[in-house]
Amino acid sequence: MAITKTRIIDGKKTAASLLEELKVKTAALAKKKIQPGLAVVLVGEDPASQVYVRSKRRTCADLGIQSFSHDLPANCTEKRLLNLIDKLNEDERVHGILVQMPLPDRLNEKRVLEAIRPEKDVDGFHPVNVGRLLNGEEGFVPCTPAGCLVLMQRYGIRPEGKHVVIVGRSNIVGKPLAALLIQKADNANATVTICHSRTRSIARYTREADILIAAMGVPEFIKPRMVREGAVVIDVGVNRIPDATKKSGTRLVGDVAFAGVSKKAKAITPVPGGVGPMTIAMLMSNTIRAAELAGR
Ligand code: GUN
Repeated sequence: MAITKTRIIDGKKTAASLLEELKVKTAALAKKKIQPGLAVVLVGEDPASQVYVRSKRRTCADLGIQSFSHDLPANCTEKRLLNLIDKLNEDERVHGILVQMPLPDRLNEKRVLEAIRPEKDVDGFHPVNVGRLLNGEEGFVPCTPAGCLVLMQRYGIRPEGKHVVIVGRSNIVGKPLAALLIQKADNANATVTICHSRTRSIARYTREADILIAAMGVPEFIKPRMVREGAVVIDVGVNRIPDATKKSGTRLVGDVAFAGVSKKAKAITPVPGGVGPMTIAMLMSNTIRAAELAGR
């Protein structure tokens, strides 16, 4: 068998070039006296959410997007959060509103997401945007699935006619990703299978994948025996696991056992540095688009 080198799909580099392209758009908006604005709302003190939110705010600053930070205590009432969203909906400087998930259990996620105006829903979680995506209409697409597609596109990985197997059925990744990939559109037209925690013999499906997307949030779940030789593997997982050899005592791993799987895959995304940076870049892209649409 010919040995070909596995291609590492570099999300960090791709996101960086995407952000450079977005700077051209913010500059064009600046000429029209429009500065895109993103409100980032964090409820509570979940350490992972704090890291994500900080990174989103920092990227806004790099791009000339005005960010509005709202940190609410974990014990805040739903009414207070809904009042804040109302205010942000009315604020013309705010083109995008993001409420970091997950919310504390007491708060009703559905009510909160539905309170955001669909034209400011840069996360693409509002039922109106979810419906538009399913119908193949213009709307905001969730950032992680959009980032996966752009990453594949920029690496010349075409899903058309391929069997894409997605492991994970979340509203944030699995479901919207499937909806995107089955569209009758360029960069889509795939045959999609979704596997989840109740799928029997998952390996039976994953081994059939031309493109395997792992998005179930289980550290290193996808083992080499579950992957076809020459498949493309996209790892959406971000899991912190104990590692006594690290100063912090932990390390980040994806949903794919990278060391083994990368020996079989034709191309693979690493964790960190794969899909993660793309998610933030797509959030910036959605925010700029919201500002462009509002400025029309
Ligand atoms: N939590 C995990 N991913 C996301 C995301 O894309 N957006 C928001 N708001 N919360 C998240």
